[in-house]
Amino acid sequence: MKKVTWSLWGRKFDSPLMLASGTAGFGLELMKMGMLDGVAAVVSKATTLAPRDGNPPPRIVETGFGILNSVGLANPGVEYVVDEILPMAAGLPVPLLVNVAGEAREEFAAVVERLETSPVPMAYEVNVSCPNVAEGGKAFGASPEVVESVSRLVAGVSSRPFSVKLTPNEGDITESASAAEEGGAGAVTVSNTFLGMKLDWRTGRPALLRKVGGYSSPALLPLTVARVHLVSEAVNIPVLASGGVSGPEDVLELLAAGAAMVQVGTWLMRRPGAGSELMKGILDLISPGAE
Ligand SMILES: Cc1cc2nc3c(=O)[nH]c(=O)nc-3n(C[C@H](O)[C@H](O)[C@H](O)COP(=O)(O)O)c2cc1C
Repeated sequence: MKKVTWSLWGRKFDSPLMLASGTAGFGLELMKMGMLDGVAAVVSKATTLAPRDGNPPPRIVETGFGILNSVGLANPGVEYVVDEILPMAAGLPVPLLVNVAGEAREEFAAVVERLETSPVPMAYEVNVSCPNVAEGGKAFGASPEVVESVSRLVAGVSSRPFSVKLTPNEGDITESASAAEEGGAGAVTVSNTFLGMKLDWRTGRPALLRKVGGYSSPALLPLTVARVHLVSEAVNIPVLASGGVSGPEDVLELLAAGAAMVQVGTWLMRRPGAGSELMKGILDLISPGAE
């Protein structure tokens, strides 16, 4: 049987699946549970310069068709990540992309500079969907000029490829994608969660303490397919799809729309073994009857 492979940045993978940031930690628990089969790479939880407690609870709530989160980039900070977590992640059976976030443009580069001292990451994912605290609190991704400058700053200190993870909430995502490419990004991740809110109509009380959060759900699939299609027509760098995967056909649809690789996030919380389950389904669909 002919072996099927997918490629990114000159590497070949037996699977097109990545685990999306924030839904698999650094992959260590899934590794212990033996649940990284079928996975090409893990994208870590966001890492910032200083440790962050994140937002107070409730910060994850279920909705009818998905979940809303306002975790607030809780993480132990890059020093701890480099000194304590990445040495353990060296034992992962798959490559790791470290997701990077910041409150100011320069913070992204400072985090990457520190990550560069570790041999473990294969690449980075630069999350420009978080608020630009230093410049008024709008997401970095809201302005193509800011996306390009963050990408340029990261490219200036990184020896590794990086993907810029775009927001679907503000501006024209194809312009942000082109700006990331212009700034030196090696890929774009399309996209982060959609702004959402849940409240109790009786009391008017929001379910999340921070009122609004990021919505993720299998229902996002058509929204992601559209954005992956539009972005892949606009740029010449690989597109990593993220949003709405809950079955093997979803992955194949996103690949057909132009994605080089496909991330699975929220579905993993329901099915920790999603990697091997999806991969088996994909292989059954593309080479039926093959062993
Ligand atoms: C609980 C939770 C935490 C997340 N944390 C991050 C994060 O730290 N950085 C990031 O770039 N995306 C984060 N995301 C977004 C996911 O990586 C993914 O892009 C999004 O959930 C859409 O994909 P899905 O429909 O497969 O979940 C988070 C999502 C969830 C549900």
